[in-house]
Amino acid sequence: VCLDPCEKFQCPRGKVCEVNEKYRPVCVCQDPTTCPLSTSLSERVCGTDNKTYDNPCLLFTTQCALERTKQGHRLHLDYTGPCRYVAPCQDKELVQFSRQIHDWLKNTVVHLYEYDIQNPGSLTRKHRKIVKKIYEIHKHLKAGNKASHLLSNNFEVNYLLNVYPVHWQFGQLDQKPADGYLTHSELAPLRGLLAPVDHCASRFFDECDSNKDKNISLTEWCSCFGLKDGDHSKELHG
Ligand SMILES: *[C@@H]1O[C@H](CO)[C@@H](O)[C@H](O)[C@H]1NC(C)=O
Ligand SMILES: *[C@@H]1O[C@H](CO)[C@@H](O)[C@H](O)[C@H]1NC(C)=O
Repeated sequence: VCLDPCEKFQCPRGKVCEVNEKYRPVCVCQDPTTCPLSTSLSERVCGTDNKTYDNPCLLFTTQCALERTKQGHRLHLDYTGPCRYVAPCQDKELVQFSRQIHDWLKNTVVHLYEYDIQNPGSLTRKHRKIVKKIYEIHKHLKAGNKASHLLSNNFEVNYLLNVYPVHWQFGQLDQKPADGYLTHSELAPLRGLLAPVDHCASRFFDECDSNKDKNISLTEWCSCFGLKDGDHSKELHG
């Protein structure tokens, strides 16, 4: 029995896998009429065209149908919920937003460790070792102690507290496919979460793609959080 070539093949949102004449899997636009019917208003999303779509599937299939047109290039998910008036984000607010997200990422990593204590095995061994250290440093700093006995140098502190959480989130988002670039559809879960609650989120994600090539590289992602080039390329030793 032949395996279905599409079985383990992943397509981005708005596309489905089809077997071509050479028996290879290819991604083609999903027919919007195959999107599940929305049963709740809470599935509505606002596109960057400021149009409300009944559910994300309808937005992504529309985007696919418009692919390679100028309009389609610009269409992606802006935020969950219906479109509404969003106040412009000022420069100062943008900096503050980036700091808040950075802090939130650090806390997420700390929570990962707490979760792993209760659910052992949720982290890989290598990941767990790093996350444990971040957790311990965080705990010490929060208690107002210097965590210096836990650390070999400032580079390590900076890496663990500031750089690692940013890298970690990048890896979490860069899944379909895991190619070192965040596309709009890979960013959609995070953007969809943040944009309804903060008017700076859309500007943040748009400007994060500083070379405007429609996706965010790790270097771009790091600089959105104010991390310098040298910070993120160095690996942690020891
Ligand atoms: C987007 O649509 C909403 C709701 O229709 C409207 O209030 C808002 O002004 C629009 N925003 C822009 C930038 O056109
Ligand atoms: C992201 O952009 C780069 C540079 O334009 C391009 O080489 C790469 O194929 C893009 N990746 C995706 C997944 O769109």
